[in-house]
Amino acid sequence: MDENDFRHTEVRVSEAENVTSDVLRLTLVASDGGDLPAWQAGAHVDLHLPSGLSRQYSLCGDSTDTSSYTICVLREPNGRGGSAEIHDTVKVGGELEIVGPRNHFALRSAPSYLFLAGGIGITPIKAMIDEAERRGAEWSLLYGGRTASSMVYGPELGERHPEKVQLIPQDVEGLIDVVVAVAELPDDTQVYCCGPEGLLDAAGSACAAVGIADRLHIERFAAGEAVAPPEDGEKPFEVELRQSGVTLTVGADQTLLHVVRGVRPDIDFSCQEGYCGSCESRVLEGQPDHRGTMMTPEEHDEDGTMLICVGRSCSPKLVLDL
Ligand code: FES
Repeated sequence: MDENDFRHTEVRVSEAENVTSDVLRLTLVASDGGDLPAWQAGAHVDLHLPSGLSRQYSLCGDSTDTSSYTICVLREPNGRGGSAEIHDTVKVGGELEIVGPRNHFALRSAPSYLFLAGGIGITPIKAMIDEAERRGAEWSLLYGGRTASSMVYGPELGERHPEKVQLIPQDVEGLIDVVVAVAELPDDTQVYCCGPEGLLDAAGSACAAVGIADRLHIERFAAGEAVAPPEDGEKPFEVELRQSGVTLTVGADQTLLHVVRGVRPDIDFSCQEGYCGSCESRVLEGQPDHRGTMMTPEEHDEDGTMLICVGRSCSPKLVLDL
């Protein structure tokens, strides 16, 4: 975890522009007129909405300019209401709260990159391309979308980097052929992929088939295949919240998040499905039972964190830094 992961900042919408028929681009500035927290390519912020909903959006502007953030919001007609609320109610001059930025999709240092983007998944990739250019690294982008006109940043990227960018509108050219894309990558190329589940799954299978699964890095905007609960059912366990000075019991039919929020209603959460990272908490003692899809259990153990919306405990008691 980073010091900014749980930083709350009041922001004001300084620009709002419909950049495609269903994507609204927002520019956010600090309400107090100061700089916003620094960020790196791949980072996202949690946007807290007036209704109480919280949604994650990748930062896609210039990471060297902390006077503003840029996010793009896709209207999701079958979503849970967050994107519709933003499209329908957020206006220039409106005040919002953000948490973060946090980054679970950081761009590793490498001589070359293959970027795979599907739809609104271009947003973190766009920041990565800017960063790869700054680093002087080789890169190429395969960017798929429903139609050419739906592809945010498509024309801009295509014009700026015609030899590196391949735009693949699905209605004309079909889906990105990920198998071909990763078939003969140089040994030092890292693959970054963001987009719908189908693209992430295809990238995972294609990279595994050619033995480069360890060079694939993905970001989910929806739940992946989570770890299944035990066959003999969930077990209750104790959780001590060290800062709060309380020890609680998490029943077999309760989530750790629900129990923690009973005494710490300030604890952030959003997806409640283990992929967004909002509820990530530091573990001081005990062995968590990690079940999310944002990071592997090994990565969580290395960081000393867990996702309390889906995670439980392998040990009788957990101690959290809450
Ligand atoms: S609330 Fe999204 S990972 Fe826990």
